[in-house]
Amino acid sequence: MALKKPVYLDHHATTPMDPQVLDVLERTQRQFFGNPASGSHSFGWSAEALVKKARLQVAQLVGAGEKEIIFTSGATEANNIALLGIAAASPQSQRTFISTHLEHSSVEGPLKHLEKQGFKVTRLDHDKSGIINPEKLSAVLNDETLLVSVIAAQNEIGTVQPVKEIGQICGAQGVLFHCDAAQAAGHLDLDVRALGVDLLSLSAHKIYGPKGVGALWVNRKHPPINMAPTSFGGGQEGGLRPGTLNVPGIVAFGEACRLALLQRDKEVQRLRSLKNRLLEQLKEKLDGIHLNGAAEPRLPGNLNVRFEDIRAGQLLPRLTVLALSAGSACRSGDTSPSPVLLSLGLDTLQAASSIRIGLGRFTTEEEVDFAADRISAAVLKLRAENP
Ligand SMILES: Cc1ncc(COP(=O)(O)O)c(C=O)c1O
Repeated sequence: MALKKPVYLDHHATTPMDPQVLDVLERTQRQFFGNPASGSHSFGWSAEALVKKARLQVAQLVGAGEKEIIFTSGATEANNIALLGIAAASPQSQRTFISTHLEHSSVEGPLKHLEKQGFKVTRLDHDKSGIINPEKLSAVLNDETLLVSVIAAQNEIGTVQPVKEIGQICGAQGVLFHCDAAQAAGHLDLDVRALGVDLLSLSAHKIYGPKGVGALWVNRKHPPINMAPTSFGGGQEGGLRPGTLNVPGIVAFGEACRLALLQRDKEVQRLRSLKNRLLEQLKEKLDGIHLNGAAEPRLPGNLNVRFEDIRAGQLLPRLTVLALSAGSACRSGDTSPSPVLLSLGLDTLQAASSIRIGLGRFTTEEEVDFAADRISAAVLKLRAENP
């Protein structure tokens, strides 16, 4: 079969919907238009039953109980509800957040907002491979710490953080731990109890579900986590995310979680071997190519590589048969070098010579070989033109 072009290799930005998920979405959209909050008739009851099933499926992906899931419009909203909601309910004596320099803008944004409100935010340094050392966390935790927020897997360089160790440290100190797992879901074991996490954010469109749906998992423990609502209206989702539920999106998200859990172990292996195949071919064909961030632990489908003497801004327009990225999708249009790459110790030229490649569920060997050929040819041509 002829290769379908352009070849999509930007799965960190978003993933295509799995056909099985799309079926569920369409069926729900067509057949179940009821409002799950309508308690007086069967339209509402059937919508409510579907949402309940999806809640369970999402909960199962993270080893949690269904009552702990708050549906949101995505991981951005989940991160905002978590950070701003905890801050709004915080005692005067606990006004310090601890986070990292590796966070997505949907964590960094609310944290910056909270700094303006008088909260203190300590950002842990990572090493040159893009991984946090948990000992650094132990050194800065104190009685004033309200919450620690750490990304599980970084969206540009794919490095995986020591979530379990961080969870143990937070647990021992009685400090809340929030984890942005938008990129990690479907790739890492996200058993929240084993990880010692208290709040965890998920996004459907990173796991072959629809856009505009996500969830915040909040640990139901005693005493309950103190959170205040940040938007107001109906009492949906325990009052923390008021508004009529996106039933088709939620039901499709549930199906996406079910598939992600079912396929995870096999898929991780498959993606890792495809990624190694791609990197090996690029290294065979090219000199002066370097991997940004640790090779492991890393998302199995992520490569972030830089090519000496090349600018991504020149390379990508020559590779329109491939969908690649020079950084995170939410920074596209921003031509300044990626802060995450600079934080690894790269200079601005090195950061500007980097591209992100994200392989996914439907990526084939043939596509990987095609990408290796095209990328290496374009790099060699650019180098020949600008010796
Ligand atoms: C790590 C991380 N967190 C949060 C988000 C935001 O997710 P959403 O698009 O569902 O708001 C993304 C999306 O790029 C992400 O990669």
